[in-house]
Amino acid sequence: MKDPESISYLTQQQAVEIDELLMGPFGFSVDQLMELAGLSVASAIAEVYRSSEYNRVLVICGPGNNGGDGLVAARHLHHFGYKTYICFPKRTAKPLYTGLVTQLESLSVPFLPLEGLPQELSNDFDILVDAIFGFSFHGMPRPPFDDLINLLVSIKEHDQTHQKSPVIVSVDTPSGWHVEEGDINGKGIKPDMLVSLTAPKLCAKMFCGPHHFLGGRFVPPSIVDKFKLRLPPYPGTSMCVRVRKPPQVDVQVQIPPENLEKHGEADPFVQFQKWFDDAVAAGVKEPNSMALSTASKDGKPSSRMVQLKGIHGEGFVWCSNYGSRKAHEISENPHASLLFYWSVLNRQVRVEGFVQKVSDEESEQYFRSRPRDIQIGPAVSEQSIVIPGRQLLHKKYKELEEKYSDGSMIPRPKHWGGYRLLPEHFEFWQGDESRVHLRLRYFAEEIGGKRVWRIVK
Ligand SMILES: Cc1cc2nc3c(=O)[nH]c(=O)nc-3n(C[C@H](O)[C@H](O)[C@H](O)COP(=O)(O)O)c2cc1C
Repeated sequence: MKDPESISYLTQQQAVEIDELLMGPFGFSVDQLMELAGLSVASAIAEVYRSSEYNRVLVICGPGNNGGDGLVAARHLHHFGYKTYICFPKRTAKPLYTGLVTQLESLSVPFLPLEGLPQELSNDFDILVDAIFGFSFHGMPRPPFDDLINLLVSIKEHDQTHQKSPVIVSVDTPSGWHVEEGDINGKGIKPDMLVSLTAPKLCAKMFCGPHHFLGGRFVPPSIVDKFKLRLPPYPGTSMCVRVRKPPQVDVQVQIPPENLEKHGEADPFVQFQKWFDDAVAAGVKEPNSMALSTASKDGKPSSRMVQLKGIHGEGFVWCSNYGSRKAHEISENPHASLLFYWSVLNRQVRVEGFVQKVSDEESEQYFRSRPRDIQIGPAVSEQSIVIPGRQLLHKKYKELEEKYSDGSMIPRPKHWGGYRLLPEHFEFWQGDESRVHLRLRYFAEEIGGKRVWRIVK
């Protein structure tokens, strides 16, 4: 979501009301909501912190529903390939919780007693999940959770001494924060990731870590209407959606350039996703803008900006006018190159390969995902031809706007659709103040009928 202010934040009272409605007239059971919440949390963690790098997870569970969400998240994280541990100091005898504990025990997920927690959590875990208190919390944290919260606070103090420390993921609200006013005295947990559930609570406005996600993809439209909720749409089949980007991230610290080679992923798509996520987290404006270079059949090049719609079917997809100059060049010569440049990170990525049109069904999906006013655009514009006059285009736009003002479906013009570049080569470039720039290159090769990536550093 581009503007964080355009999203809704709930008061504590509203959060309670929505929960009551969901479990009352809307027919949800607490187990269902917990399952979906926990799955959302695990999905968000897996989206940002890959198990190959951040494998050891400690989930700290409180006595209520937030703790239950944590238990469910722990089960999913286990299945996602993380080495998961649980600290659940105040177990409850309710069947919902004993069931969750039994499920985890059957997976041999270790439950660590409070006194058995390692003193130096930093050495033993890569991710700490704070599932202690949720939106119904008020007052002061009581033992033993006060000490656990202090432990999480001290982790970040360690962080300032530049020791490697685990990341902290808070479920719905950072525990100990005021649900509406946030970290009142500035001495609370400073999570790296917050996964808001159903809708962010007011305290989330004060969250300034790099990763804010929303989960709980179950809110019925009538609740959205009743509470006038503005929530970001969930992409595809995802259980979570990124909400907000921080104003700035010191990426020189996050991934030091000299470590680029060490940090290179075996799969260039994974490497790309990591850098793209960094660009999003660093607040890059339109990180998906890329220069597309094509060439005519006699090798004369041309470049222009287009927008990446997504990486689907092993390729980079954008949409355009099939009558444009680029379309003409692609039809003559399918070899093309894409270039991303994220100046705040001093990074560029070049992707070279060959281009094909996506299927009509896929183009239709991209078209339908555009806001209605933008759907009208392609019907008006004939790209790369001499414009008969701006006024004429505006007139045509107005006519079409009027024609579809009743909400009827705007048909996709036949000349508008998607292209997919299937990469054969990637180059990741990291600039450095010392001017010792680093490059990580990947070349596609066929070995035994299988496509593999050769890395050249
Ligand atoms: C940031 C940015 C993003 C753009 N995204 C697209 C896009 O996704 N698809 C597109 O056809 N044109 C896009 N355009 C317009 C193209 O750059 C270009 O002007 C147009 O596609 C005609 O190009 P051609 O005559 O070389 O085919 C974008 C322009 C800018 C500046």
